[in-house]
Amino acid sequence: MSLEAVTHAANVRRDGEVLVTLDQTLLPNETKYLELTTAEEMWEAIYKLRVRGAPAIGIFAGYAMAILAKKIEAEDFDSFYAEYSRLSAYLNSSRPTAVNLSCMLRRMDGVVLAHKNASRSELLAALDVEAKAIHDEDIAMCRKISEYGLSLLKDGDGVITHCNAGPIATSRYGTAQGPFYLSKEFGKNIHVYVDETRPLLQGARLTSYELTKAGVPCTLICDNMASIVMKQGKVQAVFFGCDRIARNGDVANKIGSSGLAIIANHYGIPVYSLGPSTTIDFACPTGDDIPIEERRPEEIKELFYEKPMALPEVKCYNPAFDVTDHSLLSGIVTERGIVYPPFAENFAKMFPEEMANV
Ligand code: MRU
Repeated sequence: MSLEAVTHAANVRRDGEVLVTLDQTLLPNETKYLELTTAEEMWEAIYKLRVRGAPAIGIFAGYAMAILAKKIEAEDFDSFYAEYSRLSAYLNSSRPTAVNLSCMLRRMDGVVLAHKNASRSELLAALDVEAKAIHDEDIAMCRKISEYGLSLLKDGDGVITHCNAGPIATSRYGTAQGPFYLSKEFGKNIHVYVDETRPLLQGARLTSYELTKAGVPCTLICDNMASIVMKQGKVQAVFFGCDRIARNGDVANKIGSSGLAIIANHYGIPVYSLGPSTTIDFACPTGDDIPIEERRPEEIKELFYEKPMALPEVKCYNPAFDVTDHSLLSGIVTERGIVYPPFAENFAKMFPEEMANV
C-alpha cells in the first residue's frame, strides 16, 4: 500500500442507495467494507465503532440521512418530517460525545426544513448535495489542518500521538495524524510514537497500521510508556485529535488524552489538539458541559483477549473520553489556523460569527 493509497482511501462512501464503510473493528487483520441500507445497521456501525473518528461519523451521518430519507413513505411534508426526525434522533443516540454527529445531523435537518414547500424530489436532491458537501469540506479541512500541524514540527522531531485521527477517522490525511503523512510527502523527517490507546486499541490497531502502510516511521508503545519516552527526550510534541472543544478551549478526546497532556506539561513538551472547526461547540461553555460516553465493561475485560482477563463479577468503569483542560494545551490547530491561548479570546477573533451566534 502506498502513501497515496492510505491518505486517499474512500473509507466512507456512498454507492447509490447503499452506505459503504470500512469495518474498522477488523483492522489490522482484515479489510472488509460493509454495505449498509437500514437505520439499524447504521446505528450499530457507529455504536460498535465500525465507523469511528468524529469527522468520519459526521460524514457517515450525512450520507445516512440522505439515503434513509429516500425510503420514507409519506403523504405530506409534516408526516415526512416526523419520520425523518425520528430517524435522525435515533442515529444521534448512537454516540454522545463527538459533536460532529449531532452537528451534521442538524445541518441535514436544516436542508429538510428549507425545502418544506419544495417537491419531494427537490428535497431529496438537496439532501444528496448537502451530504456530498459535508464530505468534500472535510477533505479540504484535513489538508489545511495537516499543513498547519506540520508547520509546528521541525526536521528530526519525535511526536507522540493518541488514538486514531488519521485518514480512516476522517476523509483524507486525517487531523492529528495528517501532518505525519504530509511530512512524508514533503520529505521532513518525523518519528511518531503511537500509544496503544486502551481499551479499544485505536492506536495499535489503526494508527500504527495506517502509518506503517504509508511508510511513515513510527514506534508503538503502551499507554503507560509515554512518560519514559518523554523523559528520554524522544518526543518534542504531543498531537491528538478532538471530539468536542468547548468555548474556553477545553478539549474532549479519547480517554487518556488528558493524562498524556499532564505528563507532557511536566516535561515542558508542547501539546496540540488538531481538528476541524466543526468540532468546536461554541454553545458549550466548558469541558464540564461535555457529555462523556460510558461504554460496556466487556471492552476492558474481554475484547481483544483470547480469554477474559478479569472475573465476570469485577466492576469496571469505562469512560470513552476525557477532557484536557485548556491550561494544558499549547494550541488548537484548525483549518483556519492555529489558535493559541487565551482560547476564548482568540476563538472570538478567528471565528467571530460562530461565537456571536451562540
Ligand atoms: O471512540 P473513537 O475511536 O471514535 O474516538 C476517536 C477520537 O478520540 C479521535 O481522536 C477523534 O474523534 C478525532 S478523529 C479525527
